[in-house]
Amino acid sequence: MTTSSDAPLGVFDSGLGGLTVVRALRERLPGEHIVYLGDTARVPYGTKGPATVVRYATACAGWLVARKVKAIVIACNTVSAVAPERLRADLDLPVLGVIDPGARAAVAATRSGRVGVLATSATIASGAYARAVAAMSTRCEVFGQAAPLLVPLAEEGWTEGEVPRLAVRRYLEPLARANVDAIVLGCTHYPLLRAIIEHEVRDMMGPDIAVVDSGSAVAEDVEAFLRSRGLARSAGSNRGSLELAVTDLPRSFVEIARRFLGGEIGEVAQVDL
Ligand code: DGL
Repeated sequence: MTTSSDAPLGVFDSGLGGLTVVRALRERLPGEHIVYLGDTARVPYGTKGPATVVRYATACAGWLVARKVKAIVIACNTVSAVAPERLRADLDLPVLGVIDPGARAAVAATRSGRVGVLATSATIASGAYARAVAAMSTRCEVFGQAAPLLVPLAEEGWTEGEVPRLAVRRYLEPLARANVDAIVLGCTHYPLLRAIIEHEVRDMMGPDIAVVDSGSAVAEDVEAFLRSRGLARSAGSNRGSLELAVTDLPRSFVEIARRFLGGEIGEVAQVDL
């Protein structure tokens, strides 16, 4: 099968949070057409077991394959933690995840080698970040902290004020005790809470702690990958299109998506998997 550089990139997530990755991709690769699928009917994935996540991810990826995408970017950390090998084995096209780029950003940022990871329960339980960091550096140790409440807070738009502040502080306490000097936001939703997380990190742990997320790191990876395969679509004069699809249409989708994407969004299709 020959793939054209004009074919779209497929991106999926358990819900809306993956739009933070879309935003990073559009900033870095403005020429790319992107088809985004958010499985809003079944979010959250992060509280579910690996077999369920693999089953959901397979359905999402199958939908994107039918849209003739040239590659699939798994925006979801939970799916990237438990399902990429299975998707790569099943699909006849490249599949890129967010764990390795996030781990690489953390390894680059840490000086002490003590890396904290905030992520969903499923991502932390998988040990995927610890494995990815260990494969990149023998001097680093990973301290994982599940931060499940941050997903609904971001979905609800509660990204400022006392409620998220207290939740963030509670989740940061073990990482502060572990003396980490770099923290990975290992979940699609956490970049929305970045301001409050950085503020509390500074307050609890001092000014020199790096907070990194996989969004911009994965965009770099996708660019390098597409260029190496001659599959990058040059921006030229026309910007790539963005097509959004969800499996359920929550009331506040448009407003929340706007916040995740940082701009106007077009039509949103509702699809059945
Ligand atoms: N997309 C998920 C992740 O990045 C967060 C939301 C969920 O739990 O489904 O891990």
